[in-house]
Amino acid sequence: MSFKLSEEFKTKAAHICARYPRRDAALIPLLLELQAEAGFVAEEAMDALAQYLELPYSRVKAVVTFYTMFNRAPAGKYHLQVCRNISCHMAGAPGLLARLRGKLGIAEGETTKDGLFTLSTVECLGACGSAPVIQVNEDYFENLDEMKLDSLLEDLRHGKHPLKR
Ligand code: FES
Repeated sequence: MSFKLSEEFKTKAAHICARYPRRDAALIPLLLELQAEAGFVAEEAMDALAQYLELPYSRVKAVVTFYTMFNRAPAGKYHLQVCRNISCHMAGAPGLLARLRGKLGIAEGETTKDGLFTLSTVECLGACGSAPVIQVNEDYFENLDEMKLDSLLEDLRHGKHPLKR
């Protein structure tokens, strides 16, 4: 399947590349732009970006597969990313993950049938002091417990983003 970078993307990409001494240094910001457009970074998009930046496809793929912030398949409206590193683990992340699995009826890497939630586990989100932490799309929810998690899920189910009222 062929994939073409949109004209809008190319315009933004030119501005982003101009901020860096070398075009290939813009790889991560450009991948974030691609993900913002489509919700995920498809194999074909990686290939098109590699050609645009004149990089080997393997380098683009390596970056996308290394960083959990990149979705390689369409994700739900809300991407729940549960930190699984030590501080969050000690502070109760396994219980929160189990609760999410049970309430949503999905495992890590899966999306609910209604397309609302995708569940993932991720490495340290850099907010260890307020563990346990779950990232929902771009936002962090910290110092979570089961009650706060239930309330967060209910809000999201009803289209209310707790941080964007
Ligand atoms: S261990 Fe979870 S934010 Fe660092």
